[in-house]
Amino acid sequence: MYTLTDVTKTYDGRHQVTALDRVSVTIPDGQMVAIEGPTGGGKSTLLQMLGALDVPSSGTVTLDDIELSGARESQLQQVRAERVGIVFQNFNLIPTLSALENVQMALVPLGVSAHDSKQRSRAALEQVSMGDRADHLPSELSGGQQQRVAIARALVKSPRVLLADEPTGNLDGPMRDEVLQLLHEAWRAQSLTVIMVTHDSRVAASAQRRLRIAHGHLTKLSGGPRKGGRKNGLLDRPDSDDPRSGQMGPGATDHGPLNGQSGQRQPSGARDVASPEADD
Ligand SMILES: Nc1ncnc2c1ncn2[C@@H]1O[C@H](COP(=O)(O)OP(=O)(O)OP(=O)(O)O)[C@@H](O)[C@H]1O
Ligand SMILES: [Mg+2]
Repeated sequence: MYTLTDVTKTYDGRHQVTALDRVSVTIPDGQMVAIEGPTGGGKSTLLQMLGALDVPSSGTVTLDDIELSGARESQLQQVRAERVGIVFQNFNLIPTLSALENVQMALVPLGVSAHDSKQRSRAALEQVSMGDRADHLPSELSGGQQQRVAIARALVKSPRVLLADEPTGNLDGPMRDEVLQLLHEAWRAQSLTVIMVTHDSRVAASAQRRLRIAHGHLTKLSGGPRKGGRKNGLLDRPDSDDPRSGQMGPGATDHGPLNGQSGQRQPSGARDVASPEADD
């Protein structure tokens, strides 16, 4: 579980920028959250705090029992290596390494043996339907395929949390839907907490909870801190927490929960009724 209390991040460069302004929010384990907002609003900065890539100027960020905001660099490294998988918008694959080797990189800090590393990485590539491309370089893959490898790299360590910055940002049409489906499959199967930054309304509408950040201020669009805010959506994970009982509806990649089948969509004016995020 994440607990953020009065998190402020100020960049002191030639111009001082307050990227996050007293952000407070609780994100329970297993929730799927979308973070929306205008460019420069603070979305990536927030992900960096959640991913232990940076620490706030003031306020506290805790993940489970660890206060990230006060942790030593070695502790932050351990959190990044073990608990958090990150999918970056521009994939961040190493161009000289094959797909398999890129995925294996995530296991290096964990000291996994060469044999196990290969086995686990191959399984992760299979999971994202990229098993037959293990030996390809990133330049030999399409954008959607590179994104799949990046997702495999984030998932191979079996993290507690998956953070994704614009996971469908560079994709269009069917590829976008396939990547979204993959994220939902991983969420269901691995009991992950998934936090996605997105400009894509389809991605946002598929989440249990929608937050918006603009000018560093976090507001709530829909859903709440309680796990399982939306019920019976085609992409929802069942409350039973039994991953085997989860089913992706057949229409999910065509229209998914965005066609109104989920039963509890927000009214189209939801953006206009954003309220300050306050956890009950
Ligand atoms: N390293 C940095 N140094 C100085 N200012 C920064 C730095 N990183 C981000 N900022 C500033 O912080 C603010 C928030 O940036 P952030 O990258 O979080 O926005 P964003 O919501 O992710 O935008 P986008 O949708 O364009 O990716 C912006 O005004 C940006 O200029
Ligand atoms: Mg960004």
